[in-house]
Amino acid sequence: MARQQSRYICQTCGAAHLRWEGQCRTCGAWNTLVETVVRETDKPRSTGPRAGPADRTRVPQSLRGLREVEPVRIPTGIGEVDRVLGGGLVPGSAVLLGGEPGIGKSTLLLQAAAGLALGLAVGTGDSGGEVLYATGEESAGQVRLRATRLGLLEGSAADRISVVAESEVGRIIELTREARPIALIVDSIQTVTVDELDGPAGSVGQVRECALRLMEMAKQDGTAVILVGHVTKDGTLAGPKTLEHLVDAVLSLEGERTATLRLLRATKNRFGSTEEVGVFEMAERGLTEIADPGRAFLATTDEHAPGSVAGATLEGTRPLLVEVQALVAPGGYGSPRRTASGIDTNRLALLVAVLGRRAGIGLGSHDVYANLAGGLELDDPALDLPLCLALASSLRDKPVPRDLVAVGEVGLLGELRPVPGLERRLREAARLGFRAAIVPGSSRSAPPSVAGIEVIAVANLREAIGKAVGSGHGPSGDHDQAAGLQQVLASDQGGIAGSPEGRGSRGDA
Ligand code: TYD
Ligand code: MG
Repeated sequence: MARQQSRYICQTCGAAHLRWEGQCRTCGAWNTLVETVVRETDKPRSTGPRAGPADRTRVPQSLRGLREVEPVRIPTGIGEVDRVLGGGLVPGSAVLLGGEPGIGKSTLLLQAAAGLALGLAVGTGDSGGEVLYATGEESAGQVRLRATRLGLLEGSAADRISVVAESEVGRIIELTREARPIALIVDSIQTVTVDELDGPAGSVGQVRECALRLMEMAKQDGTAVILVGHVTKDGTLAGPKTLEHLVDAVLSLEGERTATLRLLRATKNRFGSTEEVGVFEMAERGLTEIADPGRAFLATTDEHAPGSVAGATLEGTRPLLVEVQALVAPGGYGSPRRTASGIDTNRLALLVAVLGRRAGIGLGSHDVYANLAGGLELDDPALDLPLCLALASSLRDKPVPRDLVAVGEVGLLGELRPVPGLERRLREAARLGFRAAIVPGSSRSAPPSVAGIEVIAVANLREAIGKAVGSGHGPSGDHDQAAGLQQVLASDQGGIAGSPEGRGSRGDA
């Protein structure tokens, strides 16, 4: 029989202590120790004989002699979810779905539950099975309300999804063993508790122990377990950071709550690649898939104001075109503002400094705002160039041609650096109707040529800005702009030599 013992685990560093103390001796954090049950199996038993076929796996076998197991997949019926999972849910696996509160995790999982129940697999003879939805966050009535909204009560899926408002893990496991569903959804792991533990729901001890017990059940019974985990503001899975190591797959649902687009990414996947992303739109009746998301993140308005430039990013293997927006406004007193959403603020500050010193776009005394359309959050360096062009376009108040796309990383010297997957990005841009692309290029490496799009290779930022917003031979091709460019260049060079602008741009980096 396993012995149970309490340990006090620090929520910050994970160190275990025998008794409660106010301060963790290992990392020095205060009030972070939480009681956790540790199960100790008796030594002889763990090395002794085990029942059944498990025994065989204990004996080392040659790699060649091992049987290959092709994992079975249960499709969720939502194409984008299946893609991200690598083809569907694997029986006996544990999946963690993370995301900010209100982003749509419960909605997505209820829709997936319906798909699992109906066995919406295309081309398989599978006819689905039972799904158990355990909720510690909402009442069963609230789940029904959502199901009605999603139109799930109109089909037969509703008969095969059972809902229980239960937050004690032992009880959830008991219910699962009775119902024998193909999948168990636990919404959320931060609300479930183990009775033997004192710690509050959501503490590392509780979350870990609950997840371990659920996963143990999953492995034994072959039930797939999907755990919902809330993400804190800084982007980490609150409490269950430790879970990421335990589960088979970690998915995250991202987006801006006020915008409608959502991105589903796999940050870990033992049964598939982490390269795939799924794109959804939150609509009146739940999340709908966007099967061709290439243009989902481009502006839909006809208005074409200065400060907007299209960039081509790669999400895993999927090229996406995104609109990068910038607004430059004369600053007031005090240090100028650099505000970014969807883009790293430090990156923005750095690019502002590079623009000032290396490209003659002095923004030292201006407030600068940057944004990615559609609530997308990206850290693709290839967006450096479109962002810089958007800033230059806004400062000069000259729009960049709508059918122009820019791709490239900007270095500290103002040089443009190549980015991976350039050809794939350009092909997608061409497909979506873009006619010109500004890309990094040097005499040593020729840029790829893509049908339907004029590829303009430039070596540095100054040249790129010339092509996009202000030179005679750029796509906009007007002499007026070229004259404007000379004027600005002249005034900015003065700036670098020691005017307030020069000092300002150093100050904000
Ligand atoms: P929810 O799934 O409850 O988020 P989470 O479980 O991640 O906390 O989604 C909540 C939001 O989604 C809520 O603000 C309303 C919106 N929503 C829709 O726009 N359409 C719908 O059909 C549903 C069910 C929700
Ligand atoms: Mg929820």
